[in-house]
Amino acid sequence: MPELFGEISLKKDSDSPLYLQLYSKIKEMIENGILSPDYRLPSIRKLSSMLKINQVTVVSAYRQLESEGYVYSRPGSGIYVSRFPGNPLTRSQAGSLMADELYNQDDLAIISGGNIKIHEGTINFASATPTPDTFPVEDFKAAINEVLDRDKGSAFGYHESQGYIPLRECLCDMLKENGIPCKPENMMIISGAQQGIDIISKAFLHQGDYIITESPTYTGAIAVFNSRRAEIVDVEMKEDGPDLNILEYSLKKYRPRLIYTIPTFQNPTGYSYSIGKRSALLDLADRYDVYIIEDDYVSDLDFEDRKYVPLKAMDKNSRVIFIKSFSKIFMPGLRLGFMLVPERFHGNLLEAKHTTDISTSGLIQRAFDLYIRKGFWNRHWNFMYNVYKERYFTMINALDRHLPGSVGYRKPGGGLNIWLNVDYRSWTESLFNRSAAAGVLFAPGRIFYSGSHPQNLYNIRLSFAAVYREQIEEGIAKLCEIMDSLQKDNHSPSNLPIL
Ligand SMILES: Cc1ncc(COP(=O)(O)O)c(C=O)c1O
Repeated sequence: MPELFGEISLKKDSDSPLYLQLYSKIKEMIENGILSPDYRLPSIRKLSSMLKINQVTVVSAYRQLESEGYVYSRPGSGIYVSRFPGNPLTRSQAGSLMADELYNQDDLAIISGGNIKIHEGTINFASATPTPDTFPVEDFKAAINEVLDRDKGSAFGYHESQGYIPLRECLCDMLKENGIPCKPENMMIISGAQQGIDIISKAFLHQGDYIITESPTYTGAIAVFNSRRAEIVDVEMKEDGPDLNILEYSLKKYRPRLIYTIPTFQNPTGYSYSIGKRSALLDLADRYDVYIIEDDYVSDLDFEDRKYVPLKAMDKNSRVIFIKSFSKIFMPGLRLGFMLVPERFHGNLLEAKHTTDISTSGLIQRAFDLYIRKGFWNRHWNFMYNVYKERYFTMINALDRHLPGSVGYRKPGGGLNIWLNVDYRSWTESLFNRSAAAGVLFAPGRIFYSGSHPQNLYNIRLSFAAVYREQIEEGIAKLCEIMDSLQKDNHSPSNLPIL
């Protein structure tokens, strides 16, 4: 049977993406009965080498087949042909692994040989994205309908690249209440924080330019800087921010164009800069004439009253480009966020935004504006804050009760991630495989390091955005049980294969 797969021919010069071509061929084989129910498809690695295509292409084709119910996955075992292809039940159960972080998603799929998928019952500490049941669909629908009645065709015209003015005004008022000075003319609406990182990089970075990032850091940012062929200089993220001597040394040595930072409840560590390091960073930026991208993706999720002040609120000399994401509170698929841009960069950044997508969807901007003005946003924000807060404390309690003594972590005080420090290099790999087989997923720490850094194998990231309170205790207990058994097995780095 595997020879059948070897005969699949894909046209690299076709308009149809390779993954869709592959998906169609396999779907056809299933529909024609060539592949029978419960037949195990080749692993991602095997099929990609057979067809000489990227593993990500195979992952995407399998994911498409799974979302349509043609195949299903058995964690730890493989991908199989469904008994009832196209069955909507299977379709509704199919979830995305980590759609918030494409690289994590593919990375996890790849390192697990394609065996790991979300299914009902998976306890997913790997995803930092809210689950769809928390999305305020009815209220947003009401806002969209009202906008359509009110604005008619204008809602569908091209919009200003900088963003719909009433929305900018409304967001500025919200920011001022939180101590960040803001004028609508300095704000730009973007299609998610990811786009913000991308367009800043487009405007600032050329091949060979240096950029300083924390290490570890957000995988989506690493991917953008790599795509600009910039040189990433990473500075280790400590529990209270980076070591300032190393930061200054790197500024002197590399003369970077930009520093990318997530100063509050950092992804993946959950660590935050102390107030001293915040002001020192701004001073260094002035001294070495460098600009700072402040990625604020969850600073408002402060569960222990840490009251961290955003860099932007302390930015007297306009060194900071502030990016705000709504994806962890609201509906990430809307693709909405904003940036606060120092005046001298308006032109460059507007041009980069314009060449990227002209503007963020006008309909979505108008609906979001109305949604905020009607008070829905405040209500939803409170709801999400309380959901996450409860999960945060449940998680901390479970960790404190179950974690083996050899595994440490620092309580972040907020955000969505907890960073565990394990003491054996071999652990994270075998732990990942064993816990995935037991239906518990986490993100291995090494995927958050840029290529220039020796891969770190001593950490794992646990997120609590996509797990229900009731799952947390069970998931942490299972994970810690596996840690205990690994410790008892006395695995040493030398006798375990590293994936
Ligand atoms: C630190 C960080 N920045 C940016 C993003 C992307 O956010 P958005 O959905 O607004 O593009 C993420 C998503 O996980 C993130 O973790």
